[in-house]
Amino acid sequence: MAFVVAIDGPAGTGKGTITKLLAEKLHLINIDTGAMYRCVTLECINKGISVSDENKISEVLEKIDIKLKHDNGRQKAILNGVDVSEDIRSPKVDGEVAKFAALKIVRDKMTPLQREMEKDGNIIMEGRDIGTVVFPNADVKIFLDCSLEERARRRYKQNIEKGIQTTYEEVLSSIIKRHKLETEREIAPLVKAEDAIVVDSTNMSINEVVDKIENIINLKLKEKNNG
Ligand code: DC
Repeated sequence: MAFVVAIDGPAGTGKGTITKLLAEKLHLINIDTGAMYRCVTLECINKGISVSDENKISEVLEKIDIKLKHDNGRQKAILNGVDVSEDIRSPKVDGEVAKFAALKIVRDKMTPLQREMEKDGNIIMEGRDIGTVVFPNADVKIFLDCSLEERARRRYKQNIEKGIQTTYEEVLSSIIKRHKLETEREIAPLVKAEDAIVVDSTNMSINEVVDKIENIINLKLKEKNNG
């Protein structure tokens, strides 16, 4: 049986960076499940399919081939044989993905694919529903949290660095909207699993968060090896 670490939490908590660093340190396979929802969204956008057209989406899902490959610790998303790692981060996909990710037909297709990934070895999987739905029996469950205001401050800072013109208030309001969509959706909402350990990164640096989670994982690994 593989060792499974589930990292859930909203966007803007540093989840992606933290998961990647932990994977490198602990030799775990890093799986970013958001990339899979982004692939589905990109395919539908490319085919001109709207989120309300479930028949067409279901046709897409029947044929879709999503592979997450690892290259020097970096995850690549391969959609129907094409590397779309950059395309899935476009503003268009950003704007649509939460709606596609809320669809039952989409989640019913992605969840079993994510469960299968355990067969490749010890994994650290990040998303929104990993500890609650995908791997309810994960060895370690972390819920990475952060205040809405701090998440907005971080995103605002990134925007400034990238030369994107926004105000802090605009960023905060978009984060609040997205948070509401993710936490209030009917299927697999973003909620803390009962047995997840909450790590609040609001006043912590990335390294402090990594150290804290690394200690939690190491303790569990020791327990598992001894038991
Ligand atoms: O983590 P991210 O921003 O790349 O995720 C993209 C979208 O997919 C976001 O709207 C949340 C959603 N998602 C999800 O619903 N379940 C997951 N396990 C991972 C991501």
